[in-house]
Amino acid sequence: MEFKSSQILSKLATSDQHAENSPYFDGWKAYDNDPFHPTQNPHGVIQMGLAENQLSFDLIEEWIKKNPVASICTREGVDAFKDIAIFQDYHGLPEFRKAVAKFMGKVRGRRVTFDPDRVVMAGGATGANELIMFCLADPGDAFLVPSPYYPAFDRDLSWRTGVKLLPVACESSNNFQITLQALEEAYKNAQKANIKVKGLIMANPSNPLGTTMDKDTLKSLVTFINEKKIHLVCDEIYAATIFRAPNFISISEIIEEVECNRDLIHIVYSLSKDMGLPGFRVGIVYSYNDTVVNCGRKMSSFGLVSSQTQYLLASMLSDEEFIEMFLKESSKRLGNRHKIFTRGLVEGGIKCLESNAGLFCWMDLRPLLKETTFEGEMELWRVIINDVKLNVSPGSSFHCDEPGWFRVCFANMDDETMQIALRRIRTFVGERKEMDAQVNNKRWKKTLRLSFSSRMYYETSLSPHMIPSISTSSFTTCSCDLNIYLKVII
Ligand SMILES: Cc1ncc(COP(=O)(O)O)c(C=O)c1O
Repeated sequence: MEFKSSQILSKLATSDQHAENSPYFDGWKAYDNDPFHPTQNPHGVIQMGLAENQLSFDLIEEWIKKNPVASICTREGVDAFKDIAIFQDYHGLPEFRKAVAKFMGKVRGRRVTFDPDRVVMAGGATGANELIMFCLADPGDAFLVPSPYYPAFDRDLSWRTGVKLLPVACESSNNFQITLQALEEAYKNAQKANIKVKGLIMANPSNPLGTTMDKDTLKSLVTFINEKKIHLVCDEIYAATIFRAPNFISISEIIEEVECNRDLIHIVYSLSKDMGLPGFRVGIVYSYNDTVVNCGRKMSSFGLVSSQTQYLLASMLSDEEFIEMFLKESSKRLGNRHKIFTRGLVEGGIKCLESNAGLFCWMDLRPLLKETTFEGEMELWRVIINDVKLNVSPGSSFHCDEPGWFRVCFANMDDETMQIALRRIRTFVGERKEMDAQVNNKRWKKTLRLSFSSRMYYETSLSPHMIPSISTSSFTTCSCDLNIYLKVII
């Protein structure tokens, strides 16, 4: 007898709540099916939907070569192998937590310090985000989240926890900055719908915008959550990707200045973007709430960072000279890449939202939409993936309220691939504009023919004495129209 999956598996396993059925993830599949390679598959899809920082690998490789004792699988480091390979408790290696806390302070310009005893480990920021939700909310409770937001939040924060996400729409008219008014409205709407709001979660610097929040905004958010007695979770995973002014301000700095209940403040962090190590799965919850730290630590058993990785990173992150150099150089390289990439887009007539951080640009492709709807956006996205062979991510997958915005990543490829991607974009935009012009021309020609023939009809159907005399001005217009008309039909 055959069983349906739904009969023998859990609701979680058989429901569609994993939120991976979005163009954000579909784009990755399109890339996997036909990945670009400069010689083996030069017409393949270029991956521009992956926010990876691959510009500074050489610096880390160099450090690893110079520090073989930090790796327990080398001749020089093997003496530590036994101690590191045995069972680890979920507190993590003390030297690792100490090094991470110090690194977090360094990334925030040493304006704040972090207590190693508050560092809770998780499997990347993905694991950290889920862990903090498990600590702060029950199934059915909700978190407000400024939109557009990172698409995998739907999976990471909601899927297994049952927590709802309520987008707070930010608009292009003020460069997608969050307003207190929008927050209040979203909060009130949730209350009206009998939904319990447990907090506000946001990524600062923002994914997908690549922008940072200013001090006043951050202060007003802290005041808002404090008044409502709800939590504030700041995902600061892009903290060290700032490549030009203004500087990044962490929530940890704001709570030094604004009166608030610190039990409500939590930071999510990871080394995936700032150090470019997403494969290492190093995620952190840093909570100012003792109960959350204690509970989170127990939960972290489900997603610990391998002790081998902890050991290596404890050593690397404690090397102050290297970290100082790495952070400076990484930011410089990101800045250069961003400049070259956005200039290349501008040459193709594409504008992006002004940004100062992140591994991506928020491209404004509204002028290329055939219709200003999300269907129009998807139509454009399909052409870009299937014909232009670039995996960029449509704004709708980030819950953007306005169609026509796309996120494009620029730091996960080498210079040559980026130039090929730029060429493809520019050629496509040029062709699309030309096509649009032709369509408009045809439409215009049709209208003109119609108006011309209707005028002829109108004029011939009128009795001679009723034909209006042609004034000089109307004659000019008419002859000019006629000229263009003739040009077009010739
Ligand atoms: C805002 C944000 N949070 C979390 C993550 C997940 O990061 P990790 O690779 O550390 O799990 C990402 C990855 O893109 C992200 O952009």
